[in-house]
Amino acid sequence: MKRLAFVLLLAACTAPVDSETKPLGENVLSKEQIHAAKHGPVDFLTQVKPVLEAKCVMCHNRQALPGHMSLENRSEAMRSGALGTFIVPGSPENSLLISNVHSAHSKMSVMPAVGERLTDDEYAILKKWVKEGARWPAGATGELKVLR
Ligand code: HEC
Repeated sequence: MKRLAFVLLLAACTAPVDSETKPLGENVLSKEQIHAAKHGPVDFLTQVKPVLEAKCVMCHNRQALPGHMSLENRSEAMRSGALGTFIVPGSPENSLLISNVHSAHSKMSVMPAVGERLTDDEYAILKKWVKEGARWPAGATGELKVLR
């Protein structure tokens, strides 16, 4: 018993302080939506918008983070920032939204309650959505709700 406690203690001390030890947050989408998104074309309105609304747009809008990525609507999201283009349809590697999401917040020491991280499923779905062309309707249906 003593030995087990020691091993556990050791494991806790040597665990890397990276994303794996931080809470990953809950999936915003249902299991069915996740399955559908992974096995067919990703649908912006039902599979992308809810994730961005729940986890990103409360910070990523023009008012809260001027000069940074805004995800309020299609034309905002397709802009470029100092670091590059936020979304390059067809090219997740060149889209900051995907390539930078894990490192972007490294300077933020505390994860705020609103800033739940993307789950692996959500990350995979966003990446697939960009790869498939990042279809995002213009106009009212493509506007994300910002809770201020
Ligand atoms: C609590 C507020 C907050 C939330 C929630 C948040 N971010 Fe950020 N994000 C920031 C801040 C602040 C920066 C700028 C960091 C810096 O300059 O060091 C940033 C930077 C970024 C960048 C780099 C481009 C830029 O605008 O500077 C990307 C990409 C990004 N975030 C993606 C996301 C995604 C995707 C989500 C949702 C899963 C998200 N963020 C949720 C606050 C937030």
